[in-house]
Amino acid sequence: MRVIIEKSASDAANFVAETILELVENRPNAVLGLATGGTMTPVYERLLAASQNGRVSFQAVSTFNLDEYVGVKASSEHSYRYFMDKSFFESTDIDRCRTHLPDGCAEDLRAECEQYEGLIEQAGGIDLQLLGIGSDGHIGFNEPGSSLSSRTRVKTLTKQTRLDNSRFFAAPEDVPYSAITMGVGTIMDARQIVLLATGKNKAIAVRATVEGPLSAMVTASVLQWHPNALIVLDQDAASELENVADYLTAEKIQRELLSQHNK
Ligand code: F6R
Repeated sequence: MRVIIEKSASDAANFVAETILELVENRPNAVLGLATGGTMTPVYERLLAASQNGRVSFQAVSTFNLDEYVGVKASSEHSYRYFMDKSFFESTDIDRCRTHLPDGCAEDLRAECEQYEGLIEQAGGIDLQLLGIGSDGHIGFNEPGSSLSSRTRVKTLTKQTRLDNSRFFAAPEDVPYSAITMGVGTIMDARQIVLLATGKNKAIAVRATVEGPLSAMVTASVLQWHPNALIVLDQDAASELENVADYLTAEKIQRELLSQHNK
């Protein structure tokens, strides 16, 4: 687990966007796992800018989003499909046919989940999975108690998650009760994972993820077990960590070594 602490939320988003852009520059047909949520907005802004100024093309990239609300139509402003279209897809050169989100209105939700897993496999698996984190430590919508080997399925959202997400709805009771989400096992199959957390309200979940025991009660903690996981934080999200000085030193030394190597 590589822990990167940036000065501000904006710097943290920059770091994440750069990581994605470098991948797409090196592999124009990369398979990206994407996330929604307020934390991701500045990341998509930077990806869009790089696409619009001609630095990269997303034309051959394929994407798979982590999750979608059950019972919310793709055309609804509350759907994650709508969020992705408006924040990223519509303003890039990406081929819409290569952008995937689960269909939360599918007649047979179980079949939809199985099909989603199949599509990821057919695409050759995910090169880089972008993640946010819930204040309860969830990744995707793998709420506390989720199996650490779970695959894409329907999950019930906790009261805390519905409360956190009520800021995107007119009233708290409008927040859906369930979502289709990639499982923890599905996420762990990605070749690289980049988790972005910003803000004080994520600090406790971040501490449990990075320094706590590996536990299904904080599904993000399973990333301790991933061979290539980056945890990118701003100072607020890192504020409850005990070993900040060690993470900063490790990162400084790693960057120095890299720059010597590249000379
Ligand atoms: C969204 C997702 C969630 C969010 C998390 C944080 O696709 O999978 O895990 O990343 O709930 O959301 P924000 O960024 O709104 O705090």
